[in-house]
Amino acid sequence: MSFASVLVLNGPNLNLLGTREPAIYGVETLDDVAKLCRDAGERLGLAVDFCQSNAEHQLIDWLHAARTKVDGIVINPAAYTHTSVAIADALSAIGKPVVEVHISNVHRREAFRHHSYVSAVADAIIVGCGTQGYIFALERMATILKNRAAK
Ligand code: DQA
Repeated sequence: MSFASVLVLNGPNLNLLGTREPAIYGVETLDDVAKLCRDAGERLGLAVDFCQSNAEHQLIDWLHAARTKVDGIVINPAAYTHTSVAIADALSAIGKPVVEVHISNVHRREAFRHHSYVSAVADAIIVGCGTQGYIFALERMATILKNRAAK
């Protein structure tokens, strides 16, 4: 039984997980990550919807649709993290709790990865924990949603 629903959104190139720069992103595929999230969701009482797109407008359309459908957003915006005011605006506009995830430690990488437009609208940020970061993000989201429900 789930007490809340969460959209787990993934940005560009994450469909290539498993083969894409495995030294940085690991060998698990996006399907493996989806399974990790669904299993964590079951354990935590969260219904998890898991999506990936390479298109900024698609991610924004899914966020708009989530406005009336889900309680929280876990997002790995991938490269749009560092470029997209539009995704940050969409997250602000829908007014749901947000946990931002990055598989790699972006702060140990190129300088252009050190700034995130999304962090300013996120309740929590998880970086450098590999795909386990998605589990941490869902755990944090479960706590945020329980705390809100208790108020
Ligand atoms: C990423 C980090 C981003 O800088 C990069 O563009 C990605 C993946 C991560 O999960 O570590 O595509 O968000």
